[in-house]
Amino acid sequence: MHALESTSHLPKRQAYHEIHTQLTGIFSGERDALANAANMAAVLFQGLPALNWAGFYLLKNGELVLGPFQGKVACVRIPMGRGVCGTAAAQRQTVIVPDVHAFPGHIACDTDSASEVVVPLNGGGRLWGVLDLDSPHLNRFDADDARGLERAVSLWLDASDMDYLLGRYP
Ligand code: SME
Repeated sequence: MHALESTSHLPKRQAYHEIHTQLTGIFSGERDALANAANMAAVLFQGLPALNWAGFYLLKNGELVLGPFQGKVACVRIPMGRGVCGTAAAQRQTVIVPDVHAFPGHIACDTDSASEVVVPLNGGGRLWGVLDLDSPHLNRFDADDARGLERAVSLWLDASDMDYLLGRYP
């Protein structure tokens, strides 16, 4: 199995470069989207500093449902358009929230969370859900995080067979 080197001591862009390399290695030869999502949540949570939650919400019957994650127990269902996750999903765009308490409709799963970034999982012309990262620090996420996480999502989308998310096992 891959030994994960911590990237938290590296400058941000270098840390993402290292994370992308780790993900490429972990996804190599594995097409199960759910398994790859679980490992990606672990890589991000362990590799990026100052996070209290990292994970997936997957779109099922028009609703975001909790998927693989690292962190404390979280709310299970988020309607489209609700909270930061539902907003990013509805807009199909990355949303960075510097202060979650100033975001109308923010859903507080973990009271430690102070800032958040949510990246939509856009692949093959459809939305599969969102990737959500929370931090206990205000203003933790910037445009470099958005780019680094969007790249991680596209590595996951390219490596994975989404049939696994639909309950079809090729
Ligand atoms: N804060 C999110 C809900 C999910 S948790 O942060 C894990 C939101 O407002 O959508």
